[in-house]
Amino acid sequence: MAAYYVTTPIYYVNDAPHIGHAYTTTAGDVLTRWRRQRGDDVLFLTGVDEHGTKVQRAAEAGGVSPQEWVDRLVRDSWRPVLETIDAANDDFIRTTEPRHTERVQRFWEVVRDNGYVYEADYEGPYCVGCEEFKLPGDLQLPEDGGEPLCPVHGRPVEMVKEKNWFFQLSEFTDALIAHYEANPQAVEPASAYNEVMAFLRGGLVDISMSRSSVAWGISLPWDERQVIYVWFDALLNYATAVGYGASQGTPDAELFAQAWPADVHLVGKDILRFHAVYWPAMLLAAGLPLPRKVFAHGWLLVGGEKMSKTRLTGIAPEHITDHFGSDAFRYYFMRAIQFGQDGSFSWEDMSARYTAELANGLGNLASRATAMVQRYRDGSLPASGPATEAEQTLIDLLAEVAPRADAAMGALDFSGGIAEVRRFIDAVNLYVTEQEPWVLAKDEALAERLDTVLATVCEALRAIAVLYNPVMPKAMGQLWEQLGAEPALGPIAGQRVGEVARWGQLPTGVAVTKGAALFPRLEEPAE
Ligand code: ME8
Ligand code: MG
Repeated sequence: MAAYYVTTPIYYVNDAPHIGHAYTTTAGDVLTRWRRQRGDDVLFLTGVDEHGTKVQRAAEAGGVSPQEWVDRLVRDSWRPVLETIDAANDDFIRTTEPRHTERVQRFWEVVRDNGYVYEADYEGPYCVGCEEFKLPGDLQLPEDGGEPLCPVHGRPVEMVKEKNWFFQLSEFTDALIAHYEANPQAVEPASAYNEVMAFLRGGLVDISMSRSSVAWGISLPWDERQVIYVWFDALLNYATAVGYGASQGTPDAELFAQAWPADVHLVGKDILRFHAVYWPAMLLAAGLPLPRKVFAHGWLLVGGEKMSKTRLTGIAPEHITDHFGSDAFRYYFMRAIQFGQDGSFSWEDMSARYTAELANGLGNLASRATAMVQRYRDGSLPASGPATEAEQTLIDLLAEVAPRADAAMGALDFSGGIAEVRRFIDAVNLYVTEQEPWVLAKDEALAERLDTVLATVCEALRAIAVLYNPVMPKAMGQLWEQLGAEPALGPIAGQRVGEVARWGQLPTGVAVTKGAALFPRLEEPAE
């Protein structure tokens, strides 16, 4: 079966991760878990970018070799952060691994054989923070007449003058314009698409694909004194990780046939041009199919500027998860920021949403429902009597919300998908308030009505757990257990989005327990 293949950028290991990196990985993970619950066979790749000047200089400043530097940071920070945010990635690629370095060399041999590589002199500005040769229009000229700055890093660029090997990017201007005109969904959101088209219509110029003044990288197979330019090494991770360049007939070659082209490259808008222009041009030069989509999300801002390792403005993900937990972290960033737009993190906003939407909203609903089944029905889920208008309203709303949530998640509109589920949760909360099961419980003559209300709320929670599982897998797994759902319905991750609205799945008589709070009340912030 062809796999649905999702990637994150591979992050520079010049320093430890901050919440900007965790943000992209979280989005990839939510998408992955959602697609899995749609029945897709998903492949989710993340990893790290270990070569280049930026990493080399960080290692030098740290007084160790680049290899020691990256080994330590990957072990102590980059791998652990995946657990911190509860990411279910299938693979983790490091660009110093032989599976990558060997295949990168093979790729560039192919492109050179195809006639798209030549030797020439380069002279121009370079931003080490971006690891990017800057074009004239890219730089910010300070009003005081000072040195030109990189607009992403707010730092002066360096002048580079060296003889190296060029990739004939200019050959691909027309092919890429034609490709994107025919496939407007291949770059999203629309603002990113427009930016890419404007850049392409300006015409592409050839670009260095190797560096002679950099030591830390993959050596150029036909010129050992040079290393491959870090971006033209790093972008290839998406292909090398799934077996590009493996010998025919091997399992890796088979994997590549199934996984390529990637379905979606998730990236921040800082690296859109690399992914939507340079990368597809490289693929065209090697005769490979182009990725189906590049989605460029916005930036997490600090004081109106991009949070960044280079600027030292990063917040460590565990600073947030230690207090709120991984589920709330995932929920907050997917819920509070429209994917594709910039956003800011604030401790106050996160606390407020945690309390209102998770602890008081969903958490309270789940604990009330399970407690009432325990108290009034000895923890055994009662059978529902006939549905009245009140129950039918919920049944109909779920049938409306589930496909809308699916469409939104499928379109990478995570906050839109969550908003649909919230609409249903609000309706269920209203239902409980209006039906007053605690009043029904006082009158034996209303026992059947109480059965119906309890069964309805638990059935609604069943659907909520399934729909929220991709966003908050830990808490929804806990809820699944409290509902006694697993023995009858199987594991939560195996529940299908397409089936979720079918009413009456949680069987009568299952053991409902009031377990620990899904979203415990918080201590005062230890900011
Ligand atoms: O660019 N807001 O690595 P990088 C949102 N190695 N997302 C952010 C962010 C912020 N403030 N800061 C970082 C590189 N990110 C290359 C990529 S891919 C072949 C090579 C996220 O460590 C976002 O996904 O600078 C951004 O594009 C990425 O981290 C850049 O990470
Ligand atoms: Mg960066």
